[in-house]
Parts: sequence; C-alpha cells; structure tokens
Amino acid sequence: MKALLLVGSPRGKRSTSNSIGMYLLELLKEKRLETKSIIIKNELSEDEKIARLLEDINNSDIIILTAPLYDDSQPYIVVKLMELIAEKKMNLNAKRFIPIINCGFFESEHIIAVAIPIYHKFAKTVGFKWAGSVAIGGGEIFQGRHGKNLDDIGKMANKMKNLLDLIAVKLSSNLEVGDLVPDVFPKVFNVKFLQKLLIRMNNRNWKKIAESNGEIVDATPYLD
Ligand SMILES: Cc1cc2nc3c(=O)[nH]c(=O)nc-3n(C[C@H](O)[C@H](O)[C@H](O)COP(=O)(O)O)c2cc1C
Repeated sequence: MKALLLVGSPRGKRSTSNSIGMYLLELLKEKRLETKSIIIKNELSEDEKIARLLEDINNSDIIILTAPLYDDSQPYIVVKLMELIAEKKMNLNAKRFIPIINCGFFESEHIIAVAIPIYHKFAKTVGFKWAGSVAIGGGEIFQGRHGKNLDDIGKMANKMKNLLDLIAVKLSSNLEVGDLVPDVFPKVFNVKFLQKLLIRMNNRNWKKIAESNGEIVDATPYLD
C-alpha cells in the first residue's frame, strides 16, 4: 500500500500541517507502507510539476491531506489542487482520502461547520473513498510554524501522538477512521482560570497588532 501526504499549508514545511502529517507518515512507514510527502505550494507553479503531482496521487492508495483552516474554509492552494484533480477526471475509486485539518481557534466547530462538508463533497465528486476526517482546534500549540515536530514539544503533543497512532493502525488495516473531533489539549488547558487568562492575553495581543497598524481599537462608532 502506498500513502501520500499532501501538505496544504501555505507555510510549507514550517507548519502544524507538516508536523502532524510527517509524524503520521513515519508511523505508516513503520507499518511497512510505502510513503511519500509533498508540499503542495511547491508544486503548483509549472505544468510539469502539476502533472507529476497528479501522477503521484494516481499512484497512491491512501491520500492524506493535512491543511489549516483559512476563513472557515480551504486555503487557496488546496482549492487549486482540488480543482486540478476534478478537471483531470482520473479514476480515483479505489483510493482512500482523509483530510486532517487544524485551525487557530480552540473550537473544532470552526472546521466541521463548512470545510469538512466541502472536503466531503469534493471526495464524492472526484470518486475518492472517504476514509474519515480529523478536525483539530488550537493548532498553533504544536508550534509547527517554528519548525518544531511533535517529538520536540514534549508532553504538549502526547494526546495528538496517541491519536495519530490510532489513525495509523486504522489506515494501515483498511479500517474506517471516522470523522474525529478530538480533544488534543493537555489537561491544563481545561482549567477555567487559565482559559480566561489566555483569552485576555490573546485579546491584548490582537489589539497591539491592530494599533501598530493604525487602527483605533476601542472605537465605538455606532454609539456616538
Ligand atoms: C489567512 C488566514 C485565515 C485563517 N482563518 C482561520 C479561521 O477561519 N478560523 C481559525 O480558527 N483559524 C484561522 N486561521 C488560523 C490557522 O488556521 C492556524 O494558525 C493554523 O494552526 C495554521 O496551521 P498551519 O501551521 O498548518 O498552516 C487563519 C490563518 C490565516 C493566515
């Protein structure tokens, strides 16, 4: 069996999509699957590269797409690839497809409301078999953008790693993964006080950024 990882983050290698995807791919390799990973953003600029990318999809049995959520939806490079696959009209019937999506907000609902149904419709339209999906909130805690992999960040990644273990077992045994909305945060994040503190810190940070861009952050134009 061949598993192909498509990394759909515009951040490329330094992304949570890459760190989660590469960890899963290593597990599949240990289970004797042939594996390959492709950073989508590097492959869309020339016709030859696109042809090779589509060929790789054609030659794989399992397609794992890891991507961030952008504006409740797919990043453009992922949309582009979905369009290319649909236009090519390949016979994809025997291939299993699983999107693993992470977002910035802690609630995974942002992912399952719109993006997962779009992936579902895409899979159905092009003929992929739906192997399941994973919606991961708070993706930045895995620090992929700092070039970290899951083994670099200690206990913070324990739940995520356990989940990926389970997914690897299911994918390699031809079992359904299911549509998962896992809680991948360390227990400490469930403490209410800490949640409030994090929100306050986040809000302060957003305001700072807005101010540095010349915004009047406490403006109340409709009350004046
Ligand atoms: C243009 C843009 C749009 C985004 N839109 C959302 C969004 O709608 N909801 C959300 O929770 N996070 C959103 N995010 C945050 C990313 O999904 C989040 O940072 C994610 O962890 C990045 O994953 P990556 O490292 O794999 O790219 C957005 C980020 C960018 C740059």
